[in-house]
Amino acid sequence: MTTMKPKYYTRTAQCLHWIMAVIFIIAWLIGFYSGNFLSYEVNGSFKGSVITLHKNIATVLIFLLVVRIFWRYTHPVPELPSTMSPIMKKFAHFGHFMLYLMLIALPITGCLFSWSAGHPAPVLYLFEIPRLVQTNPELLAIVKPLHIYLSWFAGFLIVGHIVAALKHHFIDKDNVLLSMMKSK
Ligand code: HEM
Repeated sequence: MTTMKPKYYTRTAQCLHWIMAVIFIIAWLIGFYSGNFLSYEVNGSFKGSVITLHKNIATVLIFLLVVRIFWRYTHPVPELPSTMSPIMKKFAHFGHFMLYLMLIALPITGCLFSWSAGHPAPVLYLFEIPRLVQTNPELLAIVKPLHIYLSWFAGFLIVGHIVAALKHHFIDKDNVLLSMMKSK
């Protein structure tokens, strides 16, 4: 049996998408700023506060992602336009899958990074995620570069995602961007 595909994402899916996009980009920029423009030698406790802010914002994504994945599997989503070739559709789906993977991998490696360095993983300055690993220099040597490389990869994916959305809207003039914004 074939089910009718909706023209727009549900309001809940749209809210989750845009709220998570804003949080992700802010967390990314703060992490980038701290990692590349601040050092403990020069900026000391300010760098500490910036990293704390990065963590308090980024950890929220873990909770939103649980809701988002549940919503994704319980609600139908619009189809990609029929003007797209099968290979481009595959490419787009693969890109979306990689974005979800980054939404999982960055918070996980970020938390492992903090815990293995002996620091907490706080959420919105309200509570901490229970530590799943103790201070561990061997693990830190793996998850620290992993978090940094993944954050770069995610940065490229996000830029590609935005460029693709804008191309759909302004060049192909299809419904792709609007399906994440409008409801009728
Ligand atoms: C989607 C979520 C996240 C994104 C997009 C993100 C992004 C980034 C970026 C771009 C950097 C800088 C990389 C560089 O040095 O070039 C970074 C560093 C870092 N992140 Fe994340 N991150 C996320 C989640 C987390 C979480 C949940 C934690 C810990 C609870 C965390 C802890 C750290 C730490 C400790 C650094 C090092 C900062 C420094 O050395 O100054 N990150 N992150």
